[in-house]
Amino acid sequence: MTRKKFKAGVVGLGMGCAHCEGYRMHPDVELVAVADIDPVRLEERGRQKLQVPRCYSTAEEMFEKEKLDIVSVAVPNIHHCDLTLKALRSGANVLCEKPMAMNEKQAQEMLDTAKKLKKKLGINFSYRFSPQARAMKDIVDNGGMGDIYFAQSNWYRRRGIPGLGMGSFNSPGAAGRWFFDKTMSGGGPLIDLGVHRLDFCLWLMGYPEPEWVLGTTYNKLGPDIAKKTGDAYTVEDLAGAMIKFKNGAAIQLVASWATNVRENEIMNSRLVGTRGGLFQFNLEEGYQFDMQYSYELNGVQYDSTPHAPFKNIQSGYYLFADAVVNNKPFLVQPEEGVTVMKILDAVYRSARTGKPVKIG
Ligand SMILES: NC(=O)c1ccc[n+]([C@@H]2O[C@H](COP(=O)([O-])OP(=O)(O)OC[C@H]3O[C@@H](n4cnc5c(N)ncnc54)[C@H](O)[C@@H]3O)[C@@H](O)[C@H]2O)c1
Repeated sequence: MTRKKFKAGVVGLGMGCAHCEGYRMHPDVELVAVADIDPVRLEERGRQKLQVPRCYSTAEEMFEKEKLDIVSVAVPNIHHCDLTLKALRSGANVLCEKPMAMNEKQAQEMLDTAKKLKKKLGINFSYRFSPQARAMKDIVDNGGMGDIYFAQSNWYRRRGIPGLGMGSFNSPGAAGRWFFDKTMSGGGPLIDLGVHRLDFCLWLMGYPEPEWVLGTTYNKLGPDIAKKTGDAYTVEDLAGAMIKFKNGAAIQLVASWATNVRENEIMNSRLVGTRGGLFQFNLEEGYQFDMQYSYELNGVQYDSTPHAPFKNIQSGYYLFADAVVNNKPFLVQPEEGVTVMKILDAVYRSARTGKPVKIG
């Protein structure tokens, strides 16, 4: 008897193309359909490049006709909540792109609905899935950090506004330009890049409960860059925050799409604990990472760099599909997505009011 294949469908063919490829790696999953409102992307990416059996011009029609087990929502942030709710109600388990939603209220509604319908809801905090990230988590889980009490995490781009930027994060044409329209995105680099850095530190720190947030945002360069193409720029181009937790720990966070820094793109996270310290950083201004672990043993201080190869790690898409197929927990829980949105809301509120915001 052949084993039942779980049916997957993906909404949005930007980042969604990676979801399609990830699902195709799973032996018990069949990618049966995709949906995108852009007919050019649907034709070029859905039909020609990915050769998905059925391509729909609306997500709603795909949900209605396909009765999917797994749906990825990879569309502009403004549609995350609405399409996730529709997908859940159609009977699917949902992997939603980051940020989980435009704000905490929407994220909470998504979580409540998934719980009520007993469906899995995952958030694509993709930076947890790199080999270095998993190795760092192993060190933490094995007690190598002791009590982590402070973290600092940065993601700076020199000139990298999505839709107006350069290299891999430039989505040409109309797609991508929604990122710097606040009504579509909910915010700029904080909600786009900071969300990853924040989740990464929170995950390693065991998701402590936030208490206070002090945030600041700027848009010094973005509006002029956008003006060159006749676009309006309505989000921040740099955000900074200090987040304090009930257990006394703190995270300092910076996220930027356009800053006068030397590197085109720099990402790093430093965490310090009572028994060790971890530093993760990107290599050659790209998307490969390395890490260092510093600790003291018998009065001697050591720095160690892991030696390749790391364990072969599966993608988040494969792992979400696997969680659905084998009914096991996914690495990212929706409660964590809600906590991240709560903190981001507070950073923006603090930046607006110029005052610290109490959230716990
Ligand atoms: N996890 C990551 O590392 C990562 C990386 C990039 C983007 N993202 C996230 O993925 C999401 C999409 O970003 P992107 O870079 O692919 O943007 P994009 O603009 O390149 O692609 C979005 C696609 O969604 C389609 N779309 C828009 N509204 C739709 C709707 N209502 N129904 C169906 N299709 C619709 C657009 O036509 C477009 O093809 C965003 O939330 C972004 O934050 C995550």
